[in-house]
Amino acid sequence: MALALASTVSLTGLIGNIIDVEVDISDGLPGYILLGLPDAALNESKDRVRAALVNSGESWPNKKVTVSLSPAWLPKSGSAFDLPIAITLLMAQGQVPKDEVGKCVYLGELALDGQVREVRGVLPAVLAAKKSGFIKALVPFKNYAEAKCVSGIEIIAIESLRDALHYLRNGEVPNFPEQIAISDSDYFLDLCDVAGQVGARKALEIAAIGGHHLLFIGPPGTGKTMLAERIPSILPPLSEESILEVTAIHSIAGTLPDRELLSKLPPFVAPHHTTTAPAMIGGGAHAIRPGATSLAHQGVLFIDEAPECARGVLDSLRQPLESGNVTISRAVGSVTYPARFMLVLAANPCPCGRFSGRGRSCTCTQIAIRRYLQRLSGPLLDRIDIRVFVDSPSRIEMASDELGESSAVVRDRVIAARAIADERFIGSNWKLNSQIPPSELRKRFRAEKMGMNFLHTELDNERLSARGFHKVLRISWSIADSKGHIIPNRDDVESAFRLREGMELLA
Ligand SMILES: Nc1ncnc2c1ncn2[C@@H]1O[C@H](COP(=O)(O)OP(=O)(O)O)[C@@H](O)[C@H]1O
Ligand SMILES: [Mg+2]
Ligand SMILES: [Zn+2]
Repeated sequence: MALALASTVSLTGLIGNIIDVEVDISDGLPGYILLGLPDAALNESKDRVRAALVNSGESWPNKKVTVSLSPAWLPKSGSAFDLPIAITLLMAQGQVPKDEVGKCVYLGELALDGQVREVRGVLPAVLAAKKSGFIKALVPFKNYAEAKCVSGIEIIAIESLRDALHYLRNGEVPNFPEQIAISDSDYFLDLCDVAGQVGARKALEIAAIGGHHLLFIGPPGTGKTMLAERIPSILPPLSEESILEVTAIHSIAGTLPDRELLSKLPPFVAPHHTTTAPAMIGGGAHAIRPGATSLAHQGVLFIDEAPECARGVLDSLRQPLESGNVTISRAVGSVTYPARFMLVLAANPCPCGRFSGRGRSCTCTQIAIRRYLQRLSGPLLDRIDIRVFVDSPSRIEMASDELGESSAVVRDRVIAARAIADERFIGSNWKLNSQIPPSELRKRFRAEKMGMNFLHTELDNERLSARGFHKVLRISWSIADSKGHIIPNRDDVESAFRLREGMELLA
């Protein structure tokens, strides 16, 4: 009897589970049995592994081969088990030295010719291996840079099964660059490109300070998309912990090529309004992949022309907006991904798009206008804190050669204001003004008496709902932080009210 064991990692969401791959080769009718809840893709591993072995000049045992993946109860999917299965099989035949258990993990898919293909989720898999005490990981060459983001574990990159065997037999390590540094490049879009739009810029800054969700309404071509795309440039850089988390999500989604490795820039994700609910929140038949809401984790989710979205798509945002994560259930199991983002919606004011405060050539009826905006369902609109009307910049503003304030200046103010909020929230389990729970707003986070009086009057006059009341208070804290007020005063509250109601911010 010939028996061998090696380890690999299987991901459930961002969580990595160590999987033991055991191979037993025994006399008996030649055959191949795979145990341990494999899916269809994994069941096909036999043919890939056999072809890869033969094409790499190795032999396939003409015996009874049993491969067991444990823990057996964990559903396993995909093709990333190919490499560990092939290597364990050779270990069982005595063709490569056996691994001291708990030393090395193997990740990679095999092509029929023995090349090792890249796989998704290498960063979170290597992180999990390191946490479980492994000291080495063999990974596909194309995933090398990503794997190197994890410090404290030796990474060996291979391009083919031959490479892997060469390393295991002779200990020869391929030579690759050593350390991946946290990327320092700056965002390429700057707020100084935007002419005019004083009110919208101010609203952006307040939204960035408190992490408030935002809706831009305005005619086409007034700069709504421009403004939204520039939000990452005024957000504080990601913390080291967040950098790894965000990179891990993009690693699983297979979107790392679009994002610089270890970038400290908050992500900006802009799904088209024709997108589907699974693309928005995540899904997939075999492996459950993160959707736009998780790719935007710690950054900005921007939906242009939001009223054009299918209804179910916008409604699918409610769970992540409420809880900061998404849970997706499928036959293969359920998976949770983090999804805490700043939501930014843009909408035309009416179906023809030409409606504006200045009365232009809009031909839409009142009813058509109302119906159009009602497509943003009530429950979703309720979660939007700030609504801004973006009108065309004036001729003078467009003609002026004076640039607007740059993103760096605004970002410094955002960072300073957030530092004030951080201090106030020490010991709480929330970080931003937009996350203050309602009970705390009533107890510890009231505005000055005059400010509260203003809100109560608006409540009495039915110009403010109970939910709106809390939203306005949260925004007023962000305004107070931007001005260095210890507690929001009446002006701060009134400015917040106007931001909430879509009027221009008081000067
Ligand atoms: N406020 C502005 N300042 C400078 N350029 C602008 C402004 N508004 C619009 N533009 C120009 O018009 C183009 C379209 O703007 P965009 O942001 O896509 O408008 P919207 O999203 O509101 O339809 C921009 O690429 C830019 O060239
Ligand atoms: Mg646009
Ligand atoms: Zn119109």
